[in-house]
Amino acid sequence: MSTADFLRSKVGKEPHVFSGNPGRFHHLLPWSTVDDILKHHWLEPGRVTLSKDGHDVPIDEYNPQVMTFSGASATAKHRRVEASALYRHLRDGATLQIKVIDELVEPISRLAASLEAALKERVTIDAFISFGTVQGFKTHFDYSEVIALQVFGRKHWAISEPTRRWPRVGDPGSKTAPEPSKFTDLLISDGDVLYLPRGWWHRVQPVNEITVHLGVAVFRRTGIDLMRWLVHRLNEEDICRQDLPRPSDPKDRQLEHLNALQEAMVTRLREDGLLSSFFDAFYAAQPSRQAFDLASAMSCDALPDEDDFAVRWLNPFAVVTESKEGLIVKSGTDCVELPKNYSPLVSHLRSSNKPVTVQSAKSISNLTEESHRSALSALALAGLIEIAHCA
Ligand SMILES: [Fe+2]
Repeated sequence: MSTADFLRSKVGKEPHVFSGNPGRFHHLLPWSTVDDILKHHWLEPGRVTLSKDGHDVPIDEYNPQVMTFSGASATAKHRRVEASALYRHLRDGATLQIKVIDELVEPISRLAASLEAALKERVTIDAFISFGTVQGFKTHFDYSEVIALQVFGRKHWAISEPTRRWPRVGDPGSKTAPEPSKFTDLLISDGDVLYLPRGWWHRVQPVNEITVHLGVAVFRRTGIDLMRWLVHRLNEEDICRQDLPRPSDPKDRQLEHLNALQEAMVTRLREDGLLSSFFDAFYAAQPSRQAFDLASAMSCDALPDEDDFAVRWLNPFAVVTESKEGLIVKSGTDCVELPKNYSPLVSHLRSSNKPVTVQSAKSISNLTEESHRSALSALALAGLIEIAHCA
């Protein structure tokens, strides 16, 4: 199923299981990577959690505060995952969750970036690891679309239709789970992908074997997001800043004021290209995923010496506008001005979902050898591209 078909026929509508070959996701999260995260990263509280039978295991039982030593003296407290406590809780049936693992593991970061480019929405990815038969989390629904990639083993999912469609964070809808008879059972195996629209109830249980899945949360824009943005723009309207009439004021004055407010809101909603403006504003505010290449960045032109590298556009959400003077690239809090003749290069890099070799980029950039390197150098130093070294 193509991304376009998936977006049109499934997203926000119904669950879907994509069957796949066992092992196709093993490279995303090998055990050595999980071990490295637990050993080498002292993550902020709540980033690594244990849950069992629908309850959180108290953090101090497995992720206590320890002193950091600098020279001879203790200087600060950090949290460290304690191996023996972690083993004990996992052997007792707890589920280990590593949150926002896309910020820690390169292949998962790449997966998140490619999903963001395809879906045009922000995503975060958590890892869920368990070993026994105990349900980790209570039966619940999520406020994001869920795409679950089964990396190792199998997992039993029981799913049921939403009791409130398209729930949002802060939405006061009911949180009472449907009757057990309303749930459908699914066994998701190594290599499978389960898509679950937001609001769908689910209960997830390991089946007495090692099981690891990556939960991709996709946060889609809604009418409430549009209205919030619109309300901000309505500050420009006198009638919207004006004091409200009071309930004690004459009814016709109240009605006149409310009609004027309605008119201001409806006029804005009917503006040509309103959704484009809304999404442009949303995309322009989205920061890039981070990439570092210190050795290249500190060299003379911030590029490897030899032209045997490739480059990758970092932020699929960046908004590029062209004027008489040049290009303006808005990416998160950055606003970068570039010469106008960089336009073919920038559009080529933005439209490619793979790294682009320097030579291939040069063939479409219409720039001289020297200018081409200068352009790549400017883009690298502005954090708009990353260097992908060829093996
Ligand atoms: Fe969930």
